[in-house]
Amino acid sequence: MSAEIIDGKKIAQSMREQLKNRIAQLNGVKPGLAVVLIGDNQASKTYVSMKQKACEALDIYSKLVKLPASATESELLDIIQELNNDSSIHGILVQLPLPDHINETSVIEAIHPSKDVDGFHPINIGRLQTGGEAFYPCTPNGIMKMLEHHEIDPAGKHAVVVGRSNIVGKPMGQLLLGKSATVTYCHSKTADLKAHTRQADILIAAAGIRNLITADHIKEGAVVIDVGMNRDDEGKLCGDVDYSQCSQKASAITPVPGGVGPMTITMLLFNTVESAERFSR
Ligand code: GUN
Repeated sequence: MSAEIIDGKKIAQSMREQLKNRIAQLNGVKPGLAVVLIGDNQASKTYVSMKQKACEALDIYSKLVKLPASATESELLDIIQELNNDSSIHGILVQLPLPDHINETSVIEAIHPSKDVDGFHPINIGRLQTGGEAFYPCTPNGIMKMLEHHEIDPAGKHAVVVGRSNIVGKPMGQLLLGKSATVTYCHSKTADLKAHTRQADILIAAAGIRNLITADHIKEGAVVIDVGMNRDDEGKLCGDVDYSQCSQKASAITPVPGGVGPMTITMLLFNTVESAERFSR
């Protein structure tokens, strides 16, 4: 059996078209996203430039604040305060990772929860667990949209999440639980990874380890979502899942590239538009 391919690029494109319609109904309010970039991390620069281009394509105002790696935490906190008070800005994103001398928690907590379009503020994380109006982290929420698009209902399914980061693994499990899945978290200290992943109806691979998941790790007919963004020996982008093996055994699978990646930025745009809608209510 060959798996159905979950085409993130296509789903992202159709969601972006829907967002254009929502923006058109904002009565002249232009959604605004501020992206703060500190230092010279090449991957961060690439992500930030992709985020800006995506904003431009939807006519979302994007403000880039660039700071040198030597910037102090207090300078950064002052900038966040200004952005919190700026009515043209509906979303604030501080690109991670931060230089070592800046405390990530203090920075995330300085962003007003109503503008925290990354969904990293403890208020938003709390509301993800308890319900209520919140921003959900972009990558896991994008995965939920992909499942929905393919009419894969997590209710009653066993979802296994490999990875426990604050950005992907932990919120992923919460979102799946919110849709009534039975959730297992696996991580670097899990004793027998395969024993768990083989039981997954829905497997989310978010460990950041190339080819961690082979055909032997999955059960026949599983839905396999690959969050990995690794490089192979030739520098080519590849995921955590051995795609050629697993696509023969899974019922549905995301490729890398063209799977989860395009959904992440789309969900950032989604949250920014949602924020502008809330502010204009
Ligand atoms: N660095 C890697 N992924 C992300 C993300 O989703 N948001 C932010 N702010 N930084 C990141």
